[in-house]
Amino acid sequence: MADNQTAALVRAAIANVDIPGGDKLGAYKGLSEIIVTPSAVAFAISVEPGMEGAFGPARADAQRAAEAASGGRKVLVSLTSDKAPGKTGQQAPQAHGSGIPPKTLVNGVKHVVAIASGKGGVGKSTVAVNLALGLKALGRKVGVLDADLYGPSVPRLLGLEGQPVVREDELFTPMSAYGLEAMSIGSMLQGDQAVIWRGPMAASALRQLLRETAWGDLDILIVDLPPGTGDIQLSLCQQVELAGAVIVSTPQDLALIDARKAMDMFKKLSVPLIGLVENMSYFVAPDTGNRYDIFGHGGARSAADELGVPFLGEIPLHMAVREQSDLGAPVTAVMSDGPEAAAFNAIAARLLSGGALG
Ligand SMILES: Nc1ncnc2c1ncn2[C@@H]1O[C@H](COP(=O)(O)OP(=O)(O)O)[C@@H](O)[C@H]1O
Ligand SMILES: [Mg+2]
Repeated sequence: MADNQTAALVRAAIANVDIPGGDKLGAYKGLSEIIVTPSAVAFAISVEPGMEGAFGPARADAQRAAEAASGGRKVLVSLTSDKAPGKTGQQAPQAHGSGIPPKTLVNGVKHVVAIASGKGGVGKSTVAVNLALGLKALGRKVGVLDADLYGPSVPRLLGLEGQPVVREDELFTPMSAYGLEAMSIGSMLQGDQAVIWRGPMAASALRQLLRETAWGDLDILIVDLPPGTGDIQLSLCQQVELAGAVIVSTPQDLALIDARKAMDMFKKLSVPLIGLVENMSYFVAPDTGNRYDIFGHGGARSAADELGVPFLGEIPLHMAVREQSDLGAPVTAVMSDGPEAAAFNAIAARLLSGGALG
């Protein structure tokens, strides 16, 4: 059945759901559009801050009604309140002393590590994937969660094809590549659909990707965050007991203040800073072997010292890193004897020896 037909069926199916105040969901202005992808149906119910608890039964009714009309697709219903990202959603306890739900672990996952950066294009996703592979090479069971809902790149980087399978118990079976478990909203969206995810809705979708995936027993789940310090970061840090955050920066990024802003956010949210990685640190010319510090190499090490954060290492700017990324065959997996893989592996080893991962 065509996606737009399914959307219409779901809309009809949830129209009669009762909402607080005696109205019906179908006539409620806070109901988002119905997004249909090959494996999922998603919509958000936006409520006034403080009304999340009262809307809980409506959310559950809408979930059931949508499931009956979704043609077997997984249904993601987000309850969002624009003013308080990260504190809302179906799993928020209705009565909790401070109003902020307690941080919890992710089922089956020992350590969740966030990979963050002040801005985009510094190689955060590249580092996330290759670091995950380095940790795997060191004998750990590793998963990657692509939390960059606005610009998911994990499917491309790992060459993931198709959609994750939904199990009988409604959990996603994660996709797998090169021995890693991986989940990305990118595997469920087509074309430019990602842009419709508004902030609070995206935060709820992240929660579901994280919580409703059967990760199995993982030692480490690497979360590739979007750039900056937005609602997704906030939401992840508030919901999940993180082992810590790794900040990726280019030398010139640190000369500016973006990476410091990201570090500041994690400090404020009481998330340990595991360390700093300098990416695109220097360039070794393939023909002459000469090394060029094109961005003013070494900025990350001195910034790390200055901020009292461990320096985890530097990754050279190398054509193979980009080319292999574009091919969905990361250097650490397919050129595991090369110098680029060695750089990522060294950082993985430092991550393990640093004590943040037990
Ligand atoms: N060390 C590196 N050497 C060469 N190219 C790199 C390196 N790190 C990242 N890139 C390339 O830079 C671009 C941005 O990387 P990406 O990981 O998508 O950044 P982010 O996730 O921070 O936005 C990609 O084309 C990627 O292949
Ligand atoms: Mg990225």
